[in-house]
Amino acid sequence: MTVIPPHIACHPRALELAGELTEWRHHLHAHPETAFEEHQTSAFIAEKLTSFGLQVHTGLAGTGVVATLTGNRGPGRRIGLRADMDALDIHETTNLPYASRHPGKMHACGHDGHMTMLLGAARILAENPDFAGTVDFIFQPAEENEGGGRVMVEQGLFDAFPVDAVYGLHNWPGIPVGDMAMQAGPMMASYDVFEIVVEGKGCHAAMPHLGRDPITAAGQILTGLQTIPARNVNPLQSAVISPTWIFGGDTWNVIPSTATIRGTVRTFAAHVQDAVEQRLKDMATHTARAFDCTATITYQRRYPATINDAGATATALDAAQKIVGADHIDTAPEPSMASEDFAFMLEKVPGSYVWMGNGPTDGDCLLHNAAYDFNDDALPVGVSYWIALVQGAAAA
Ligand code: NI
Repeated sequence: MTVIPPHIACHPRALELAGELTEWRHHLHAHPETAFEEHQTSAFIAEKLTSFGLQVHTGLAGTGVVATLTGNRGPGRRIGLRADMDALDIHETTNLPYASRHPGKMHACGHDGHMTMLLGAARILAENPDFAGTVDFIFQPAEENEGGGRVMVEQGLFDAFPVDAVYGLHNWPGIPVGDMAMQAGPMMASYDVFEIVVEGKGCHAAMPHLGRDPITAAGQILTGLQTIPARNVNPLQSAVISPTWIFGGDTWNVIPSTATIRGTVRTFAAHVQDAVEQRLKDMATHTARAFDCTATITYQRRYPATINDAGATATALDAAQKIVGADHIDTAPEPSMASEDFAFMLEKVPGSYVWMGNGPTDGDCLLHNAAYDFNDDALPVGVSYWIALVQGAAAA
């Protein structure tokens, strides 16, 4: 039974459909698929959109689906609404009746909820297209790690669907259901990855003077990397370097010839990103040198920072106020150091990415946790927000 907080002015049809929306969400939750393999998911979405009478386009980035609807209130702007479709490589531990039936795969980031809310909005708007302009419902693959949003853009998403603005949302644990958060400017950080291979010379562990130890050098590099955010970045700016993976060696009595460090860097500003990349390379190269080793560094920029446009965010705020009320919107949230490939869409088209509450972070209610579950009470809220946005943004 869906429980809607009393302050929310949900679209009446979204409330009527709450049971059906919950069924769709549970179906999607039970059948998670990961990056670029969202075939069943994509087919489910395309089938639903077709049944609503929408024009449906498939094939962008493989499993991407886009449906277009023109309103009956005359000409207006064309906007895109985006939901992500992919799950994660996590083995679900919820024991819910609709828990993942695909071992090792799980919707632990709530993308099942995102798809459901966008489908719900598409259905209600198709039933009654009382808006001006045109809306494109964009379902994208591979948000996690692989940049499906970038691939859709590269394959001509905005040539085929030339929207004036694009909007995204993410469920957010820690924000109550029925509350939202948004702001112009940074919402999510950039996402870079690095690998440092330290090479020395392997030898007997009891005779270290005969070799060149990459393990000790790697240890010093790890410590040195932490001084970059602390000593090279303006304290009023943000950066994090997290080495997440270190390996080298096979046994107790051998100093190996290599040691490898992998990890991630997150920043918001381009000049900070440039500086951190350069310092990381210098730190690794020269520290390895100091230990008579060498370092080979691979540095990849995966996702840019997610930066909201001021005008589009004002439009999003207007829509959100109509549904949840101004008192339930945080208009100055702390940006997240996590990242989002919606950033690639925002690089091409102005837009806004907002958070909507998924409830308290009790227990394991954390994104990417094996016990995470999207909160079904939020479904009609998100559907109503999308509808209000279409009615406001396309007419603007
Ligand atoms: Ni996500």
